[in-house]
Amino acid sequence: MVTKNGRVALITGANKGLGKEIGRQLGALGYTVVLTARDEQAGAAAAAELVAAGCDAHSVRLEVTNPDHIASVASYLEKTFDKLDVLVNNAGISLEWDGKPTSADKIRRTLEVNLIAPYAITEALVPLLSRSDDARVINHSSVLGSIGTAESTWEQIGGFMSVGYSTSKAGLDMLTLIQSKTLTGKGIAVAAAHPGWVKTDLGTQAAPMEVDEGASTVVQLATTARERFPHGQLCHKGERLPW
Ligand SMILES: NC(=O)c1ccc[n+]([C@@H]2O[C@H](COP(=O)([O-])OP(=O)(O)OC[C@H]3O[C@@H](n4cnc5c(N)ncnc54)[C@H](OP(=O)(O)O)[C@@H]3O)[C@@H](O)[C@H]2O)c1
Repeated sequence: MVTKNGRVALITGANKGLGKEIGRQLGALGYTVVLTARDEQAGAAAAAELVAAGCDAHSVRLEVTNPDHIASVASYLEKTFDKLDVLVNNAGISLEWDGKPTSADKIRRTLEVNLIAPYAITEALVPLLSRSDDARVINHSSVLGSIGTAESTWEQIGGFMSVGYSTSKAGLDMLTLIQSKTLTGKGIAVAAAHPGWVKTDLGTQAAPMEVDEGASTVVQLATTARERFPHGQLCHKGERLPW
């Protein structure tokens, strides 16, 4: 059994992939982890796996685009823990890597999950984050949202760029910067993370990086000393990436 450190972390889209692994690593460090999933059974199975590994893990249903679910999660956290220390906006989709042309509908749905949901979830949880003495919000972004990288290395990465996914992550980066400025007065530190190209359902098995290494960027942002936290920046493995 891992000794609890008194800190509570909530990770969205944590039934599999990077979200579950971030939960596993924070749980092993003593965080109480709340894994959210849109499929209640998948969330419960992931939490059970972490509990079996000695972590204090819980699961809650959250379809990130559903305002009623977001309100229920806030109320669950308030009743159960009365605060939140770390929010990881991790749930994400890429609907455009299926070889078919993109469409306004795919772009709209991608923006809803990857950009609007992190805004709505963070807004709903600000009162609980404000009760932490070291609150952090980490938005799971991607280098594929970096305008500077797209401009300077289009020959290498242009083939991976799709309108919905890349604009959603570019928007998430701007949201991160705005939140880092507007939430600092409430004691909430905000940054964005690029995990690398990681073997998951989204990243595919062609990716070079294993999921434990991919989760490390978010885990480092969640655990690094407050004075070293990279407010409002996009980071990968402790280094700042260009916007
Ligand atoms: N893997 C990479 O190479 C890579 C690179 C850069 C950035 N990222 C980012 O890292 C994050 C995690 O990605 P991953 O690679 O771990 O992908 P993944 O294995 O496909 O996991 C995505 C997670 O998001 C959840 N999700 C999707 N839509 C949702 C919705 N509407 N409501 C609630 N949950 C929803 C999924 O739930 P279901 O199981 O129910 O679908 C799943 O738990 C994403 O934001 C992604 O953009 C990944």
